Amino acid sequence: MLINKAIFPVAGLGTRFLPATKAQPKEMLPVVDKPLIQYAVEEAYAAGIREMIFVTGRHKRPIEDHFDMAYELEHELEAAGKHELLELVQSIKPDDMECVFVRQPKSLGLGHAVLCGERLVRGEPFAVLLADDLMVGEPPVLKQMVDQFKDWRASILAVQEVPADQTKRYGIVAGTPVNASLMEVSRIVEKPAPEAAPSRLGVAGRYILTPGIFDEIRNQPRGVGGEIQLTDGIAGILRREKVFAYTYTGKRYDCGSKEGFLQANVELALTHPQVGKWFCEYIKTVTC
Ligand code: G1P
Repeated sequence: MLINKAIFPVAGLGTRFLPATKAQPKEMLPVVDKPLIQYAVEEAYAAGIREMIFVTGRHKRPIEDHFDMAYELEHELEAAGKHELLELVQSIKPDDMECVFVRQPKSLGLGHAVLCGERLVRGEPFAVLLADDLMVGEPPVLKQMVDQFKDWRASILAVQEVPADQTKRYGIVAGTPVNASLMEVSRIVEKPAPEAAPSRLGVAGRYILTPGIFDEIRNQPRGVGGEIQLTDGIAGILRREKVFAYTYTGKRYDCGSKEGFLQANVELALTHPQVGKWFCEYIKTVTC
């Protein structure tokens, strides 16, 4: 398997969702009935990845518990003959999936979080998934990127066109088109103002990176917001290696914002096998 490891940076404080995130990680907020982090882990699994590396911080125990065996719960479901629910609970962590947890001792930024996974990545190319970005695609977005990686054997960043007034929220890339969905990146800038943005192609929270990124991150000075930025590390590897920006097929919900989180809940509820039909009828009755 080419890409077998994924890093999930989950140490953030989630202040945009206070008070909901006072005592629980933002990655555990559910969209319909599944926590955000589970969507991201399922996407990585669907891309063939079996080793999930969570970079956690304080108050992130619920994430560890979610991907661990729940002995009492499973025992009770079994005793009650609730086999479907038991299967649902057990499917969260398939037997061939391994979960590893490493702490990010200080909130020094996304680049620093990725650096915390270095030892566990052991010199292989790897994926990074930001659970805030809930991606819906068929095939799943990370699987699309792994397929690109097979062809190019180089770092691949998921990108989408963003409105001109929103460049300040993203890493923005520019480069030379290779084909309709792929661009060879020549520049990447973290959160530029619209007038300084080299394009309107913004990086979504999915990356496949070569291990050279770690030295680059280590050697970067603090970037935007005084943080160690992943984007600056990527700008560093650009000088040595090819990096591609891939316009994925699918939809991204920015669940780091209330608006995106609400959109995800509404749209995923509409296609949910259990409540979808009901919710579709219900929503027609709501006026504002
Ligand atoms: C991070 C990255 C940014 C990227 C974005 C995607 O920013 O630093 O380059 O475009 O994720 O969601 P954050 O949203 O954590 O501020």
